[in-house]
Amino acid sequence: MSDCSVNDLNIAFFELQDGRVTDMNPAAEKLLQLAFEAGIKNFKKVLADRVSAGEVNFRLQHREFGIKIITPSTPQRILVFGLDEFRPSLEELFDISSFQHEMKNPLTVIDGTSQLVLAKTSDDYIKKCAGIILNETQRIKHMLQNIRLLSGMVLEYGEFEVKEFLEEMLNSLSVLFPDIKLSVQVEPDLTTVYADKKKLFMAVNNILKNACEAQRSGQVTLHIGLDPTIKYMCRASGQAVPMLKVSISDTGPGVPEETIGKLFTPFFTTKNRGTGLGLVIAKEITEKHKGRIEVQSTVGIGTTFSIYIPMINP
Ligand SMILES: Nc1ncnc2c1ncn2[C@@H]1O[C@H](COP(=O)(O)OP(=O)(O)OP(=O)(O)O)[C@@H](O)[C@H]1O
Ligand SMILES: [Mg+2]
Repeated sequence: MSDCSVNDLNIAFFELQDGRVTDMNPAAEKLLQLAFEAGIKNFKKVLADRVSAGEVNFRLQHREFGIKIITPSTPQRILVFGLDEFRPSLEELFDISSFQHEMKNPLTVIDGTSQLVLAKTSDDYIKKCAGIILNETQRIKHMLQNIRLLSGMVLEYGEFEVKEFLEEMLNSLSVLFPDIKLSVQVEPDLTTVYADKKKLFMAVNNILKNACEAQRSGQVTLHIGLDPTIKYMCRASGQAVPMLKVSISDTGPGVPEETIGKLFTPFFTTKNRGTGLGLVIAKEITEKHKGRIEVQSTVGIGTTFSIYIPMINP
């Protein structure tokens, strides 16, 4: 073969002369194998005939292939490629915001109708059923919001006060979980943080909420400060920057070892009303900040989630 680089191509390359294949690359060998498995034993001849008939595509094992002639003169050189490889993936075609929009209309109708039934009926059983429909509709709405948040997340960085950030969060949690003893430790040298406040709030809040939900009554401790043990090497500035460490510990039942690996899997939940997206969102937000989350858990003792985020300040 005169041109060595065709061997590196992932696209099948053939050289044809006098209606016969005279050379091919490894990707073409694979295509031949595929044809053989599909019951086409004389693929080289079939291909040569198609090319001389001027055909530009053909089907093989439910897949469609295209033929591109790169040298029309003898010896002819052609590329054969899967047309589906050039189609946009489902992910590219699937627009999550229009999906969410399409789902919103029927959900609003279900929601409104159930509320109407709830208001009009005096039958306890029907009331109960309408209540279930309402609750589940809320759950789907919540899930859709979370999925939307996860797709194409963009951060909005800004500087904010740590004290104010924590106050907002703890106020709402103490109302929701009055039997949990919440304690906060802030390192004295940490007054402001540069990050996406709203999203970091969501990440920390999701983990705090889990810690509170894991136990009926007990202790949840949030510790926030700069990690003295490690620095983050910022490629853009070439400087080592400190890492913010937020750790949330609870005295709940802990997570069994075999479950730890599933915690960040979408839709993994052990709760009746859970979406299984809380930790996935916390992880995505942390990773968007170029950080990471660690979990340590002992069954019967409790769990600690730690968020590490580099304090990159442009
Ligand atoms: N602190 C914790 N202690 C024990 N188990 C936990 C803790 N945090 C998370 N888990 C386990 O991880 C699962 C997934 O948590 P995640 O926050 O992703 O979803 P969820 O809490 O079930 O639902 P949602 O966050 O939508 O309310 C939980 O259902 C629970 O089993
Ligand atoms: Mg949760």
